[in-house]
Amino acid sequence: MKILILAIFINLLYLSSGSVIASGDGVYLDKVDIEITDKASLQRGAKIFVNYCLSCHQASYMRYNRMGKDIGLTDRQVIENLMFASNKIGDTMTIAMRGKDAKKWFGMTPPDLSVISRARGTDWLYTYLRTFYLDESKIMGTNNATFKNVGMPHVLWKQQGYLKKEDKTNDLISATKGIITEHEYDIMIKDLTNFLAYLGEPSKIQRLSLAKWVLLYLVLFFLVAFSMKKSFWKDVS
Ligand code: HEC
Repeated sequence: MKILILAIFINLLYLSSGSVIASGDGVYLDKVDIEITDKASLQRGAKIFVNYCLSCHQASYMRYNRMGKDIGLTDRQVIENLMFASNKIGDTMTIAMRGKDAKKWFGMTPPDLSVISRARGTDWLYTYLRTFYLDESKIMGTNNATFKNVGMPHVLWKQQGYLKKEDKTNDLISATKGIITEHEYDIMIKDLTNFLAYLGEPSKIQRLSLAKWVLLYLVLFFLVAFSMKKSFWKDVS
C-alpha cells in the first residue's frame, strides 16, 4: 500500500513538472510558468493579441463572445476594448488582409494562431517572442534566434527595444532601449503566451476548475472507504 501511494505521488510530481528544455532544433528555450486560470493575465494577453498580432494573424477557431466569457469580460467590454477587425460579437477572430497580399509582403502567409500553442509549446512561444535581433542581411532588418530567418518583423520593438548578437559569444544583448524594462517585457510576453495557450485549449479553464472538485471527491471517498475498512476488519484481526 505504501509503495502504491508513493508511486502515485511520484507520478503526480512528474506530471506537474515541465519537461521540455530544448526545441527540436537544439535551441535553448526559456521556461515560462503560465497560469491559465489567471483571468487578469488572460485579459492583458488578449489586449496585446488584438492590438499587435491580429492585424496579420487570425485565430479563426475562436469567437469574440466565447473568448470574453472565458476570460471574464462582458460582451460590452469585449466590443469596446478588443474588437477592431470586426463589429459582431459572435464573429470569429479573423482579419481583413488577404492571404495573397500577405504572401507578397512577407514571403508567406502568417499562420492562424488558434492552435499554435499546441504545435509549438508555450516555452517555444515565450522564447520566440523575446529573441528577435538586428540582422542587416535581412530585408526587414531583423532575424530571430529561435526561428531562423523568420518572415515576421519584430512587431513589439517599441516595447522591447532591439537586441543584437554579441560578436564573440553570439549571445543576445541590448542594442536599443525599449519603453518598458526587460522584466516588464517578459511579463508582457508571459501574458501573451498565456492567452495563446488559452486559444489552443479553451476548455482547459473549465476542466481545471472541475478537477479541483474531482480531487476533493477522491480524498473524501478515500477517507470514508478507509474508515469503513477499519471497522469491517476490526473484529477479524
Ligand atoms: C506584420 C505582420 C505580422 C504581425 C503583426 C505578427 N506576425 Fe507573427 N508572423 C508573421 C509572418 C509573415 C510569419 C510567418 C513567418 C515564417 O514562417 O517565416 C509569422 C510567424 C509567427 C509565428 C510562428 C508560426 C510558426 O510557423 O510556428 C508565431 C508564433 C507568431 N508569428 C506569433 C505572432 C504574435 C504572438 C504576434 C503579435 C505579437 C505576431 N505574430 C504578429 C507576420 C506577423
